[in-house]
Amino acid sequence: MKIERTLHSKIKEMDFKNISFGNHYSDHMFFSEFKDGEWKNSIIKPFSKILFSPGSLVFHYGQAVFEGMKAYRDKKGEIFLFRPEENFKRFNQSAQRLEMPSIPKNIFMNGLKKLIDIDRDWVPNDYGHSLYIRPFMIATSGILSAKPSKNYMFLIISTPVGSYYLNSLKIKIEEQYSRSSPGGVGFTKASGNYAASFYPTRLANEQGFDQLLWTDSSTHTKIEEAGTMNVFFFMKDKLITPKANDSILRGITCNSILSLSKKEGLCVEQRDINISEIIEGLRNGELQEAFGCGTAVVISSFKMISYQNNIFHFPKISNHKRLSFRLKKKLLDIQHNLSEDPFGWRVKIRRYF
Ligand code: PLP
Ligand code: COI
Repeated sequence: MKIERTLHSKIKEMDFKNISFGNHYSDHMFFSEFKDGEWKNSIIKPFSKILFSPGSLVFHYGQAVFEGMKAYRDKKGEIFLFRPEENFKRFNQSAQRLEMPSIPKNIFMNGLKKLIDIDRDWVPNDYGHSLYIRPFMIATSGILSAKPSKNYMFLIISTPVGSYYLNSLKIKIEEQYSRSSPGGVGFTKASGNYAASFYPTRLANEQGFDQLLWTDSSTHTKIEEAGTMNVFFFMKDKLITPKANDSILRGITCNSILSLSKKEGLCVEQRDINISEIIEGLRNGELQEAFGCGTAVVISSFKMISYQNNIFHFPKISNHKRLSFRLKKKLLDIQHNLSEDPFGWRVKIRRYF
């Protein structure tokens, strides 16, 4: 792999005390292209614009997939990725569903680890802050027939991030629009899934809600996910989350929370969740907490849910008594190398250069 280092680092312009999500990119990016049936020309180079034809299929038919992962710094300054192999596997599952070539593990992992090594100064110090890493693949053939592309680009870019949401969330249960449907691409990180969610989300934002709670597209009675998060409900001392299906993105954070909770001895259930039981639980006080989780947000608790124009508030609990708060701390402590890593989730970035 070629390495071309920047001569003009932008790190001095980066204010690590005031970071919002994804508006400053680190100095370098990884780039590889798929041509003539193989991946070639892999390079780490300065973050820069990429050139391709306006006829490229990504613009017309949305052949594009991505991943989201994070690198964390520990107290000694060492850098760790969190479960990168899971992102690698899911990336190729998404690519397969979108009829795109899979990316070989050595290209993905080598590109990723060396990129994060070169840009290690971009990983923030503060607890909960991290370098958000975005691998993505786009279709670049410029022939307009509606067929899979022959050529693709795979890139990895990264951006220092702080908290995604500053406050707990006001959630609206969505009964008209759908994020995904059975047999569709909801279980993948296809870029088009996100574009399709923007309009209904904007309508909810205008009504004063932060995010939508998506329901199944056929009956709108079963809970799926919230915005770009998997969801958990803590009810009658059980932690429940919707059972995975092809309309739900199987989150790595969700999977990690399930493992952590089981290890703690919590009673955990993955099953269909009806809106009616959530509303009933909010009415009779048996639903103690609900929260969303994902790489970008880590864990974000819900403060209220709106259903058919009725507003239901969650009981007020102080932070340190909240299950979501305790789980978030457990997860972040592992991510920042502040606690044992019983599941072997951390991957230390060695110094290559
Ligand atoms: N659901 C959707 C639709 C997402 O975009 C994400 C974010 O990646 C998640 C769930 C959570 O997945 P993960 O924990 O792997 O980031
Ligand atoms: C993530 O949590 O990594 C996501 O993909 C959410 C992102 C769309 C902001």
